[in-house]
Amino acid sequence: MGYMTCEAEMAMIREILKMGDPRLQRVAKPVEDIRVPELRGIIADMYETMHAANGVGLAAPQIGIDLRLMIFGFEANPRYPDEPAVPVTTLINPWLEVLNETLEEGWEGCLSVPGMRGLVPRSAHVRYGGTLEDGSTLTREVSGFHARVFQHEFDHLNGVLYPQRIIDITKFGFIEALFPESQADRLES
Ligand code: NI
Repeated sequence: MGYMTCEAEMAMIREILKMGDPRLQRVAKPVEDIRVPELRGIIADMYETMHAANGVGLAAPQIGIDLRLMIFGFEANPRYPDEPAVPVTTLINPWLEVLNETLEEGWEGCLSVPGMRGLVPRSAHVRYGGTLEDGSTLTREVSGFHARVFQHEFDHLNGVLYPQRIIDITKFGFIEALFPESQADRLES
């Protein structure tokens, strides 16, 4: 008659909230205790959800979790030869320090804004850090695409989506309209 309960081991694909949902507009709360068992399950679900959606980053608020928690990164991928690999990273209570006020424009997408792209100015050179799952701390100094991905995810923790950062709103639109000649499946986060 016995049956096994192992739901704690099973990562689930969660629904990704879409722009307009007020849960994406909150300033997320710090994780007070990284040892709470629920955190492991949330992180596993975030990876499952990000990979299922072919994303390169996901912040907890995107699945309705009001915590300062993000994942991002991907291996070098021959399908995206222009994008350098970014180490796969889980960060709890991350922080950001802008090292250079120079802004660089780059195209971004977001799993919460499906089908669209926008040209977004971001700091070219930043330092960031936070707590890792094992409780140790991480600090990195990065530039270019890596810096962009981090800033995009960090914005999610402060209730900001990339369209709010676009300066020239004519550079915001549907992928197939903006890039009629190229593949539609670009990186999203
Ligand atoms: Ni996003």
